[in-house]
Amino acid sequence: MIYLVTGGSGFIGSHLIERLLRNGHSVINVDNFDDFYNYQTKIKNTLESIDKISDFEFTDKETDIRHLATISQSDRYQMYYQDIRDKKGLETIFKNHKIDLIIHLAALAGVRPSIARPLEYEEVNVRGTMNLWELCKEFNINKFICASSSSVYGNNEKTPFSESDNVDHPISPYAATKKSGEILGHVYHNLYHIDMIQLRFFTVYGPRQRPDLAIHKFTKLISEGQEIPFYGDGNTARDYTYIDDIIDGITKSILYLETHSGVYEIINLGESEVVTLSEMLSTIETTLGISATKKNLPMQPGDVQKTNADITKAKALIGYKPDTDFQNGIKKFVEWFLRK
Ligand SMILES: NC(=O)c1ccc[n+]([C@@H]2O[C@H](COP(=O)([O-])OP(=O)(O)OC[C@H]3O[C@@H](n4cnc5c(N)ncnc54)[C@H](O)[C@@H]3O)[C@@H](O)[C@H]2O)c1
Repeated sequence: MIYLVTGGSGFIGSHLIERLLRNGHSVINVDNFDDFYNYQTKIKNTLESIDKISDFEFTDKETDIRHLATISQSDRYQMYYQDIRDKKGLETIFKNHKIDLIIHLAALAGVRPSIARPLEYEEVNVRGTMNLWELCKEFNINKFICASSSSVYGNNEKTPFSESDNVDHPISPYAATKKSGEILGHVYHNLYHIDMIQLRFFTVYGPRQRPDLAIHKFTKLISEGQEIPFYGDGNTARDYTYIDDIIDGITKSILYLETHSGVYEIINLGESEVVTLSEMLSTIETTLGISATKKNLPMQPGDVQKTNADITKAKALIGYKPDTDFQNGIKKFVEWFLRK
């Protein structure tokens, strides 16, 4: 099968590509190496995902990415340095390849920065996503997986969060763009018969985790002996999901789409284990063997109190079975962090 993965040089995308290539598939990676975090990290992600030894010499962004695109090409892997906001550019890729299924992960992620840059979030996460659907329509591609987010649940009080809950009250521009993606996706499914699964990921962590996310940030600051910013009273809680479980959920969704038609589904992918901020910090401290120095700060606008996934639907529909508990997942993350 030929899969087009957008955002394939990011955290989740690079793991997905690694798995797809290992399973013998062909992959097209579309990524613009956005400056949300440094491009060198994304080059390393890409090299690891295609199993190339990293003897990369960095010079400047444009040269490096073009060099990466050249050295990474193979008969089963093509990388395009391409922005999804540029529909004409995307069109060339769709003309060059016979794509069986798209897994769309490219986005401006992150809740807090979306408050400062809402228009850019809308351009990438909504318009960029619509560009892909417009091209699906034009090139008759009718299998599509889209990354949504637990943030669409906002501060819903009923937990665990279920796909049938009302999600009309997002509290950040990021969450609103993800909810828009779900709604517009349904329109394309309905009008153009694109079989689609929208996956609501719950805080994903593990090797290559984005540097802006709390687990990675805390681990880095603690190991450097620096103070960590600690927002709120420590009782905010997250359903943290280990990267391998997320990749299993995506590959099971691919299989479901390939064997069914007339599909439009929204599916939670979480671990179903709730960990408070204080528990998360103490797990990292114990695993690193270092105590943190905290700088207590008020809760940040846009941050939700708690996330907790009801994964009954994922288990029943696609056979999702997450099996990495938080202690174990943090151990694997810290081992990776100390090795890199
Ligand atoms: N990591 C999480 O905890 C989490 C939780 C919920 C949802 N998600 C969603 O999962 C997806 C992947 O997240 P991630 O954590 O791997 O993020 P990431 O930032 O590591 O990966 C996103 C990738 O998309 C690329 N990208 C950004 N804008 C682009 C554009 N205009 N054109 C082409 N490529 C572009 C980036 O360069 C990056 O490589 C995102 O859609 C995100 O919203 C992630």
